[in-house]
Amino acid sequence: MVSLLNRDIIKTGAETIGFIFPIHLAMAPAPVIEFVKKMDLKSAEYIFAIATRAGSQHRAFIDLENALKKKGKTLDSFFSLNMPSNDPKFEGWKPATEDEIKKMESDIQNKLNSIQKIILNKEKSREEDTDFITPMPAFSILSIFLPFLNRLYNVEFYADSKCIQCGTCEKVCLSRKVKMIDGKPVWQKNVQCFFCHGCLNYCPQQAVQIKSTRLLKSFTDKNERYSHPYATADEIAGEKEYEDV
Ligand SMILES: Cc1cc2nc3c(=O)[nH]c(=O)nc-3n(C[C@H](O)[C@H](O)[C@H](O)COP(=O)(O)O)c2cc1C
Ligand code: SF4
Ligand code: SF4
Repeated sequence: MVSLLNRDIIKTGAETIGFIFPIHLAMAPAPVIEFVKKMDLKSAEYIFAIATRAGSQHRAFIDLENALKKKGKTLDSFFSLNMPSNDPKFEGWKPATEDEIKKMESDIQNKLNSIQKIILNKEKSREEDTDFITPMPAFSILSIFLPFLNRLYNVEFYADSKCIQCGTCEKVCLSRKVKMIDGKPVWQKNVQCFFCHGCLNYCPQQAVQIKSTRLLKSFTDKNERYSHPYATADEIAGEKEYEDV
C-alpha cells in the first residue's frame, strides 16, 4: 500500500478486493485509510479485510468501513488473526516464545483455510470479536484520547548509547520519519509516524527506545523486542519504493 501512496488515484479493475493490515493503537493504520481514500473502487463487487492483532480489533474495521462507505461501498467480510505482540512499551512485556509463535502459526493456518473458503464463495462474514479486552464503544472513546495522551506525555522515540549508526531504523521506516543526520537517527517532528514500531523492533542493538519527556521515563529500555520472524529489514524497506506512475 505504501508503495502506491504517491498516486492521486489508485486504480484497480478487480472485482474482489482485500485489505490486509495490522491493528495499531486500536485502529487501522493511517496509510491503509489513505490508500482506501485514493482508490477507484468502481469495479469492486466483494470487499474483505483481514487484520492481524495482538489484543483486540477495536475500531479498525469501523474506520475502514467508514472510508469505504464514502465511496458507496461496504465491507462484506472481515476477520482478525491473532499474532504475537510487537509493542514492547508496557511494563514487564515479553516477546512471544518460539513455542507460542508455532502454536499461533498453526491456529492462523487453520483460520486462513476457513477464511479462504468464505472469500472464494464471496460470502458475507462479519466476525464477532470474541477476544476483545475492551468493549468496542469504550475503546472508541479511548482511541480518540490516545493521540491526546501521547501529546500530553510527550511520547518520543530516541536512540540510546548502544546505537552503532547502522541506519536500519531509517531503512525500515515506512513513513520516512526516521532520517540519519550526521550519522545519527533523528525522528523528524514534522513527519507523521505510522506507529508500526519497525524502528524499535528491527534495531540490531535494541538501541531505539520510547520515552515520555513529561514523565522523564523510558517505556522500553528494560524490555526485549519482537520482529516478524519472516520479514527482513530489506523486505520492509522494499515496500516504500514507489512504483512509477
Ligand atoms: C504501536 C502498536 C500498537 C498496537 N495496537 C494494537 C491494538 O490496539 N490492538 C491489537 O490487537 N494489537 C495491537 N498491536 C499489535 C499488532 O497488531 C500485532 O503485534 C501485529 O499485528 C503483529 O503482526 P506483524 O508481526 O506482522 O507486525 C499494536 C502494535 C503496535 C506496534
Ligand atoms: S537501527 Fe539502532 S543501531 Fe542502527 S542507527 Fe538506528 S538506532 Fe542506531
Ligand atoms: S514507528 Fe518508527 S518505523 Fe514506524 S513509522 Fe514510526 S518512526 Fe517510522
